[in-house]
Amino acid sequence: MSILNEIYTLYNGINIPKLGFGTWQISNTAAYEAVSVALKTGYRHIDTARAYGNEENVGRAVRDSKLKREEVFVTSKLPAEIKGFKEAHASFEKTIRNLGFDYLDLFLIHAPWPWNDKGRDCTEGNIASWKAMEELYREGKIRAIGVSNFSITDINSIIENCEIIPMVNQIALYIGHIQNALTDYCRRQNILVEAYSPLATGGALKREAIREVAKKYNVSPAQVCIRYLLQKELLPLPKSTHANRIAENADVGFIIREDDIEILDSIRQDFRHF
Ligand SMILES: NC(=O)c1ccc[n+]([C@@H]2O[C@H](COP(=O)([O-])OP(=O)(O)OC[C@H]3O[C@@H](n4cnc5c(N)ncnc54)[C@H](OP(=O)(O)O)[C@@H]3O)[C@@H](O)[C@H]2O)c1
Repeated sequence: MSILNEIYTLYNGINIPKLGFGTWQISNTAAYEAVSVALKTGYRHIDTARAYGNEENVGRAVRDSKLKREEVFVTSKLPAEIKGFKEAHASFEKTIRNLGFDYLDLFLIHAPWPWNDKGRDCTEGNIASWKAMEELYREGKIRAIGVSNFSITDINSIIENCEIIPMVNQIALYIGHIQNALTDYCRRQNILVEAYSPLATGGALKREAIREVAKKYNVSPAQVCIRYLLQKELLPLPKSTHANRIAENADVGFIIREDDIEILDSIRQDFRHF
């Protein structure tokens, strides 16, 4: 069975396709074509964010496809700079209008702090935003809610002060940068971990050790990066604007043997991620 037909199930019973299509750094104009190609290839899970500036054409591509709305799982995100109850509600309304949808599958707090002030303590703002997201979830406007770039401390402050435990944490994960303590913690809380930048935004593809493993299986380095994450029961979100790569990234039906997984586990990040 193709990975495109496989699913994980979130703790609230919602199914989420095991492979998602990333859309960061795809302009609003280019997003229509990229998402249309991904859907034609068989992807049923699209990851966008209000901050990517492409929600309009991501939504239009989904609406123009021959697929029913419920056949495609779409994620968007509350911008990292927007914190607060009213602010989160207003931003969600903008997102849903941009997409042209009646409901959203997954809504995430994009980051615990604004991008230009990483590490700032925004606990109160995150709690207030989360309470708005809980309300939208209960009203049925969102099928699942989660966070992104949240540390164990950030997630704990939500769990201690709110009612609904996040269903997802979307974090940077790729060979050489596996964040075991955080992923183990998420698993214990039944939080599904999504792996963003699964190719380290392209940086992992030049790694000799990854290329060596790829040769053994007669696949590309990108396929090794994606397959590795799937074997760790993570949910990769590769991005590409090229039809051949979009297809290649989903053609990951091979199995990496345990001795090769160990080789990949031993790789340490020595390249710069964004
Ligand atoms: N929550 C967050 O804060 C956050 C942050 C970063 C990313 N994300 C999500 O995660 C997604 C993926 O992360 P990412 O955009 O950083 O990048 P990525 O998927 O790790 O890598 C994408 C880069 O690799 C290239 N590429 C893709 N497939 C390839 C292949 N088979 N062979 C060779 N090159 C290939 C792409 O080039 P071409 O496009 O030219 O093919 C692009 O330059 C994002 O799009 C976004 O949805 C979330």
